[in-house]
Amino acid sequence: MLVARDVPEDGPAEAGSRRERASRRTVRRSGDSGREHYFTANPTAPARASVVTFQAGGREFRLRAAGGVFSAERLDPGTAVLLRKAPLPGPATEGTLLDLGCGYGPVACVLATLAPRATVYAVDVNSRALELTRANADQLGVDITACGPDEVPAELRFAQIWSNPPIRIGKPALHALLRHWLARLAPDGVAWLVVARHLGGDSLAAWLRDEGHDVVRHASQQGYRVLRVRRPRGPGGAG
Ligand SMILES: C[S@@+](CC[C@H](N)C(=O)[O-])C[C@H]1O[C@@H](n2cnc3c(N)ncnc32)[C@H](O)[C@@H]1O
Repeated sequence: MLVARDVPEDGPAEAGSRRERASRRTVRRSGDSGREHYFTANPTAPARASVVTFQAGGREFRLRAAGGVFSAERLDPGTAVLLRKAPLPGPATEGTLLDLGCGYGPVACVLATLAPRATVYAVDVNSRALELTRANADQLGVDITACGPDEVPAELRFAQIWSNPPIRIGKPALHALLRHWLARLAPDGVAWLVVARHLGGDSLAAWLRDEGHDVVRHASQQGYRVLRVRRPRGPGGAG
């Protein structure tokens, strides 16, 4: 079971509603420093420490977070849906797993804890997020390589990619990000993505299909879509 509370930064809201505008302001503040985003490389927002507690895969997690990092006060409800609905790896899982856009590391920490035989990478552009992910891995006694996107060895291919992707970076940047990393799925690899419907979950699924990926809406809960994505079929793809 997985417990998550509160309203998300990227949670359900009708387009243009008061709630959505308030949500945008929350994201912009991302601490208390004017227009800083959660995907700022070196946040200047006060690193006010927080602790995020949740359950996933039958385990309790108590992770460090801080201002200037995505959803530092509670497990993001989209991430909660992803960890509840997608099939988590287990003790027999091997290969390399990627948490794309790791934040303070909730997904990577769950993967590394439940799948100790796997190699787990956690990637983010926010240096504070990477520091927190490393600290959380140390505290849990698990191995996670938390690094910037350019530090991942180019030859690595991933058995699984997990992501609550950074929708707020804008569609062109998001598409470039997903193109880059999904191309690095192993031939039989699988990606699990969660996207809020009001932030374009369904149009993202359609775009991924247009790109030739095999996309299934695996689950839908609380306004979030959990997408299962596989490599394109045909030359260079899975099939
Ligand atoms: C929606 S948040 C999810 C964070 C975390 N996985 C969670 O569930 O709390 C998306 C994350 O992607 C990161 N991000 C933004 N642009 C990125 C990029 N080009 N490459 C990797 N991560 C990026 C942001 O800094 C942010 O931490």
